[in-house]
This record gives sequence, C-alpha cells and structure tokens, in this order.
Amino acid sequence: MKHDPMKDDRTVSHPRVHPLTGRPLTRREALRLGVGTLATAALAPGLLAACGTGDANGGGAAGAPSSPDLALQPILKRIPSSGEAIPVIGMGTWQTFMVDDTEEELAPLREVLRIFHDRGGRVVDSSPMYDPAEEVLGRLATDLGLVDDLWVATKVWTEGREEGIAQMETSLAELRRPNIELMQVHNLVDVEVQLDTLEAWKAEGRFRYIGVTNTSAQRYPAVEAILDDGRLDFVQVNYSLAERASGERILPMARARDIGVITARPFAGGNLFQATRGRELPEWASEFDCASWAQFFLKYIASHPAVTCAIPATSNPDHMRDNMGAGVGRLPDAEMRQRMEAFIDAL
Ligand SMILES: NC(=O)c1ccc[n+]([C@@H]2O[C@H](COP(=O)([O-])OP(=O)(O)OC[C@H]3O[C@@H](n4cnc5c(N)ncnc54)[C@H](OP(=O)(O)O)[C@@H]3O)[C@@H](O)[C@H]2O)c1
Repeated sequence: MKHDPMKDDRTVSHPRVHPLTGRPLTRREALRLGVGTLATAALAPGLLAACGTGDANGGGAAGAPSSPDLALQPILKRIPSSGEAIPVIGMGTWQTFMVDDTEEELAPLREVLRIFHDRGGRVVDSSPMYDPAEEVLGRLATDLGLVDDLWVATKVWTEGREEGIAQMETSLAELRRPNIELMQVHNLVDVEVQLDTLEAWKAEGRFRYIGVTNTSAQRYPAVEAILDDGRLDFVQVNYSLAERASGERILPMARARDIGVITARPFAGGNLFQATRGRELPEWASEFDCASWAQFFLKYIASHPAVTCAIPATSNPDHMRDNMGAGVGRLPDAEMRQRMEAFIDAL
C-alpha cells in the first residue's frame, strides 16, 4: 500500500525506534542510545543540536551528555512508495572513497564510516563509476561489522542488458551484499533497457527500490519524462542552496507522484564552502539548531518536503561529525528557507 502523502510531511522527528532498523528500541538499545536523553531531546530539540555543535567543534557543549554519541537521534524521512523511514542525512562516496588499497588511505575512511554509523547514519550512495569506491565501502563496512546495518544505494552505469547484469553482479559482490536497498540507473545511461532488469531484480527481492540519477540540468526534461512512467521509487538529482533548479519542477513532481528524492551534491561539490569562507553564520541560524555552514547547507535540503535523503561526501572524520549534526534538532520552515536563499544570493 502506498504511503499517503497527505497524512504527514514525511519527516519523523525523534522516533523511539532504532535509528538503523526502524524497529522499536529494545531495552539494551535504548540504554545504548541514551533514551533518557532522547526523551528530553524530543521536548527540547535544541539540546540535540547542542550535542552536534559541541561534537563538531571537537568538544562537548555545556550541559550535554558526557558522550555525544549517546545523544544524537537522527531525523527520519519516509520513503513514499513504502513508508519505510530512513535518516535524512546519508553519505556519498564519489572521489572520497576512490582510494588505493593501503591502510594509510583506508584508515581515515574507516573512521568516517564509523562516525557516520555511530551517529545513526545508514544511507550510503556509490556507483561502479566511482571505482573502487564500492569495493572500499564493502571492505570498510566488513571491517566495522556493519555490512547489514547500511542502507545501500548504488548504480548501473553501462549500455546493454548483459553488460548491466554483469556490472550489477560485480557491485553486489564488492559491496558484500546478496541484495541491496536501492539500484539506480546512473545518469540515465541506457535507461529503458536497464530499468527492465531493475524491475525484474526488484521482483526477485535483490533490490528493495529502484531509481534513476542525473545531475545535469540539460537532462532535467528527460528526468521529468521518466517520473511519469510509474516505475520509480527514487530519483536522485543535484539540489542545494547553490543548485536549486531541480526544486522548480523535479522535486514537486516527485512529491506529487510518491517518488523519493535523494539529493546529490549537497555542497555543490564544495563550492558552497568557498562562497561562505571567512563569513560568520547569521545569528538566526540558531533558530533551527544550526551551528556550522555544513549544517546550514544540509538543513536547507533536509527541510524540503520532497527530499528523502541528502548524501554529502567527505573523507574527513571531523567533517562527518559536522555533517551528521545537520540530521538532528529543528529544521527551517518555509519562511526561513527563503531567508537562507536570500542570504546566499546576496554573497
Ligand atoms: N549523477 C550522479 O548520480 C551523481 C553526481 C554527483 C554526485 N552524486 C552523489 O552525490 C554525492 C555528493 O556529491 P559530491 O561528492 O559531488 O559533492 P558534495 O557532497 O556536495 O561536496 C563534497 C565536498 O565537500 C567537502 N565537505 C564535506 N563535508 C564538509 C564539511 N563539513 N566542511 C567542509 N567541507 C566539507 C568535501 O571535502 P572533504 O572530503 O575534505 O570533507 C568535498 O570536497 C557523491 O559522493 C555521489 O555519491 C551522484
């Protein structure tokens, strides 16, 4: 049964469910996640942001629990086609996970993935285009013992039915999963042929969801056309304070058709940090529990009613702590989002 979009805004704040599995918390999990803190935090979301803030800056905020790990309760969004809830902040792997097989290169990424998971992160996005990112992700998830905790999205990026099948088999082997949550046709490459296979594998249970990706504005009309064919659970497009064009038609169309949205390039590939370098956050950012520029950019995306998940990429453990701080606390409302756009436009 499809999720009724009129019944909620797909944002599920501070649930008393396990942030990784969506099940009700067991007593042991509740203790580990600091459910007392969560209960308090549900009444005072600012506390959650305070924990994220202190953590992002390498210290604990005044009055925050001694271990910030215990206080972060991720904001969840519902997947329209199923109602399943996933954390609104995920993780990309382009460039960041494209590293050599040396401990020197792998160690910081293992820490990035550990921090992501510890703070309730689940959704990871990769592609065979990012070779060897899928293999690196599979290996690090195995090292950390969390292969089955992740909500894995990857892509098929080739022409031809047999070539697509071979590539997807390789991806699953590298990701060390017999099945994954989401398979997407990367950049619409041979989209009709690949979607046929994706539908068949979804029916077999190898993928829970299927979708397409595209980050080129010139191809938005092709994306819009495919949103109408009723086959997609997800569309992945670029969307950020610096790249808002998909918000004009694609995001509203996806929402109207019960298609989930994963937003790529949430920092416009890092350009947003260049644009705000040396500038103080506006004081009104505290009104939505925002303590850094990364959180400003991510909370803008997370607060869009069509957005299911944003996937910032980082190879820096401190940046991961910062980014995960965007997935807790309050989100900006529509008026505040306009204020954020005007602020960035005036830079
Ligand atoms: N067509 C497609 O399907 C498509 C296209 C593009 C992207 N994507 C997906 O979207 C994901 C994200 O996009 P992206 O990787 O292009 O760019 P992005 O996430 O917008 O930006 C990544 C850049 O931001 C920096 N950064 C991250 N967190 C930061 C923080 N807290 N403070 C300061 N700098 C920070 C990173 O550097 P550090 O490593 O130093 O933190 C990196 O240079 C990709 O990894 C990929 O999974 C898909």
